[in-house]
Amino acid sequence: MVRLQKYLADCGVASRRGSEEIIKSGRVAINGETATEMGVKVDEDNDLVTVDGSEVRPAKKHVYIMLNKPAGFVTTVSDDKERDTVMELVSDISDRIYPVGRLDYDTEGLLLMTNDGDLTYKITHPKNNVEKTYIAEVTGKIDMSTITRLRRGVVIDGVKTSPAEVNVIGATQLGTRIEITIHEGRNRQVRKMFESVGCIVKRLKRTREAGLTLGHLPLGKWRRLSESEINMLKKIGTGKVSSKEKSRSMYGEKAAKGKPAKPRPKKKPRYSGNGINKNKSGRKTP
Ligand code: URA
Repeated sequence: MVRLQKYLADCGVASRRGSEEIIKSGRVAINGETATEMGVKVDEDNDLVTVDGSEVRPAKKHVYIMLNKPAGFVTTVSDDKERDTVMELVSDISDRIYPVGRLDYDTEGLLLMTNDGDLTYKITHPKNNVEKTYIAEVTGKIDMSTITRLRRGVVIDGVKTSPAEVNVIGATQLGTRIEITIHEGRNRQVRKMFESVGCIVKRLKRTREAGLTLGHLPLGKWRRLSESEINMLKKIGTGKVSSKEKSRSMYGEKAAKGKPAKPRPKKKPRYSGNGINKNKSGRKTP
């Protein structure tokens, strides 16, 4: 017996959290009876579960993809306001899949999608502190004290954010381009973090998640994850992700096969006074 929301996630209907919303809205029935209670359990072998009147069954094979989400798409399976959803961008996949976690309507970049409910749960559960990296283009004053505040944590919605990696990449026409890595997934977290230090995010793109890198995947396109990427994701929460696996998924198979590169001694970035780190040659450092 499994909980109904887990069963629906295993069927590729939506993530467990998304499935809870679908259950609440009265679209799910077990053996013909509408089920709106969250705790209800399903006998996978004998119960008939339907969503909007159509039978759903657990996926026989798991599908794992990465989408480069453009701005202007909602990260849900269906939207009651009838806006474009990310599902339209993967309509050429015949299996039922759903987004893992969420990117805002206006955010671009790496979005994982799958029908593997257990993996979705691992990636999205706050206890696993899954790392996510974003490039934010922001307006407003960015100086070293702003960066330090963001790194140490700022209070958003009454709760301090956990330490983040924050680095200035360079200047844009409107302001500053900043790379920020966080380990939480609070609602509009990056936008709110910048708001809390007096900056406005004009453009936001996720470039990495859980050790996976968006790379050169074109905007609006998707690709299947490789075996090694999937294996790495499956180790989340087990404490077993090796650096070899990380480099394979971040830099490709070739990099992983060679000798592990010696870590380069880190040059202490010189602070140029405008929030942009420079090395000795005067080059900007990411
Ligand atoms: N933080 C945000 O503010 N928005 C996103 O879409 C993701 C992280």
